[in-house]
Amino acid sequence: MSAETQKQAAAEAAVEKVQPGSIIGVGSGSTVNHFIDALAASGIEVEAAVAASEASAERLRGHGIEVRDANSVTGLALYVDGADEINRHLQMIKGGGGALTREKIVAALSERFVCIVDESKRVTALGDFPLPIEVIPMARSYVGRQIVRLGGRPELREGFTTDNGNIILDIRGMDLSEPIHRERELNNLAGVVTNGLFALRPADELLVGTDTGVQPFTAA
Ligand code: 5RP
Repeated sequence: MSAETQKQAAAEAAVEKVQPGSIIGVGSGSTVNHFIDALAASGIEVEAAVAASEASAERLRGHGIEVRDANSVTGLALYVDGADEINRHLQMIKGGGGALTREKIVAALSERFVCIVDESKRVTALGDFPLPIEVIPMARSYVGRQIVRLGGRPELREGFTTDNGNIILDIRGMDLSEPIHRERELNNLAGVVTNGLFALRPADELLVGTDTGVQPFTAA
């Protein structure tokens, strides 16, 4: 079974978690695209969605699903999003698509975060996937030097601007064995908007598409 088929299976399983009439949080990426399509095909009518990227908002609207601004809601019962890596504590690296800041905001607003992935995303230790951080453009060099000081190798994501008008640095080689500590530390650097570690607020439930079906996990 291809990764794409596994993503689709996980996405379809997440649709079963959606309460009709609710306002849901919707992340970003190819797995989430399957979720949006599966939600539309399911006939489950949500009141609206808060989207973590312009691309997801456009896709939701394309299916006739209303998109609301995050500021118009006080909370969301459910957030569905993918990940680039996820460990057994359901801590993640996210931001491969560059939507990490809005994803973190919508996740923070949500009571329950359901992460949907194909099985290649499950890892024993975070860090093979380069860690994205969103940075205010004028802080690029300063933040780059601080990353080197912390043991990482930053690389500018060429030709990419986030939905918030900022740049992304992808960090390789940094020790992420204490993800909560590292998430806080990176967020404290002046000019960093967000980093792609989702450890302070991990997922609550993981749905993994595999060749033998969808496997659910909660944090170990
Ligand atoms: C985007 C993300 C995505 O959730 C992550 O990159 C996974 O993407 P995909 O579902 O395409 O594999 O964090 O910023």
